[in-house]
Amino acid sequence: MSTYLKVPLDKYKCGQGRSAPPFPQFTKPEPIGFMSINGDAREYGNDAGHLGYFWRIPEPPLDLSAGIDQVHRKAVDPEYFDIHMFCKFIQNHRELLHPTESGALKLDADFVTFRGILRLIMCLPYDNKELCLRATQLNGTIYLSKLETDADREDRAKMTQHHLNMCSWGYKFEQYCLSAEPNVEPTTSVPVNENDEFNCFFRTKLGGLRVIFGAEMDGIKSDKSVDLNDPKVLANLKFVELKTTSVNMTPKQLRTFDRYKSLNWWAQSFLVGIESIFAGLRDNNGIVHNIREFIVSDLPRNKYWSPASMMLFLQHVLQELKMLMDIINDPYAVVQLDYKPGYSGIKYTIIRRSDEPQRTPNGHNELN
Ligand code: A3P
Ligand code: MG
Ligand code: MG
Repeated sequence: MSTYLKVPLDKYKCGQGRSAPPFPQFTKPEPIGFMSINGDAREYGNDAGHLGYFWRIPEPPLDLSAGIDQVHRKAVDPEYFDIHMFCKFIQNHRELLHPTESGALKLDADFVTFRGILRLIMCLPYDNKELCLRATQLNGTIYLSKLETDADREDRAKMTQHHLNMCSWGYKFEQYCLSAEPNVEPTTSVPVNENDEFNCFFRTKLGGLRVIFGAEMDGIKSDKSVDLNDPKVLANLKFVELKTTSVNMTPKQLRTFDRYKSLNWWAQSFLVGIESIFAGLRDNNGIVHNIREFIVSDLPRNKYWSPASMMLFLQHVLQELKMLMDIINDPYAVVQLDYKPGYSGIKYTIIRRSDEPQRTPNGHNELN
C-alpha cells in the first residue's frame, strides 16, 4: 500500500508572482574524500585518477564531433551501483565510522546519497519528472539510491544517433578544457572515455539533517599539482563545472533554458559550492562558436523557479523520510519513493521488512 509523504508539491512551486519562502539553513558543503571510477570496467579507485585540471577557456571554434566514432559511450550502471561505490569508499575510509556503546559502527550522517539524487528531488516541483528512489536505514544512517524508471527506460530506448551524439558532445567539451596535469594543454586527439570519473564526497547540513553525498566533478582550477590526501588541500579545492548548450537560442529554447535547464544547472552547482559554469555554446552540428561563463547565483534571475523553495522541498522530503525510517526502525526494511506526473506528492511503499519475505514493487513475493 502506498501513502503520500506529507510534502505536497504544489506548495513548493514558487516562482513568478508567488513569494518564495526564506532560504533554509544549509552549511557550505565540505569535501571529505574522493574516489575515481575507472574506464569501461567502472571499477572503484581509491585515488584521484581522472581528476581534471582546468587549462583555460579554449579558443573556439571547437568541433565536438571530432573523434566521435571512437568514443567509449557512458555505460548504464547496474542497480545500486552508486551505493556500492559509497560502501567501497567507506571500506577504504574507516576513520569515518564511529563505534557506538552497543559496538555498532556509525557514520556521522542521517543520509548518504549522491548529488544527482538530491538534484532530482529539488527540481521535482518544477520538472515534474518520474522518479523512483529506494531507502534503507542502518545504524542511524539512511542510504538513498535511485532506480531507473519506466520513463528513463523509454527515453533511453528512443535515443536517436543524434541524441547520443549530443550527449557525447558534452564530454568532448570537457576534453577540450581539462588536462591530467596543471598548465598543460589538453590532449584532444585520443578517444573520449565517458566512463572515467573523478568523484568527491561532501558533508553538509540541511535544516539540521546531516548529509554525506558523492558527486562527479568535472575538474578543478589549480596551477600546481594537488595532493588530495592533504585535508587542507581537499577542503580548499576550486571546482569547475563545464556544460554545453545551444548557441543563438530560439525563443522556445530560451524559455526551456530559463524554466527547466537553468534550475538543474543551478541545483547541481549550488550543492557542491560551484560559483560559475563554463558553457560551450554550440550549434546543431556540434561546433562550439563561443564560450560563456554563467554565474551560478545569477541563474535564478528570471524568477521562474525559486532556489529557496527547492531547498526547502528537499529538506522537507528528507525530514519526512527520516521520520518514517525512524518509526519503521528496521535495518532490513526497504522503502520505495515514487513520483509520477499527476501525483500530488511523493508516494512511499514499504517494499521489504525483516519479518517478511522480500516483495517486489508490484506486490509479488520473492521466494528467497
Ligand atoms: P552537457 O550538460 O554539456 O550536455 P555534466 O555536465 O553533468 O558534467 O555531464 C557531462 C555530460 O554528460 C553532459 O554534458 C551530457 O552530455 C551528459 N549527460 C549528463 N547527464 C545526462 C543525462 N541524464 N542523460 C544524458 N546525458 C547526460
Ligand atoms: Mg560532470
Ligand atoms: Mg559538466
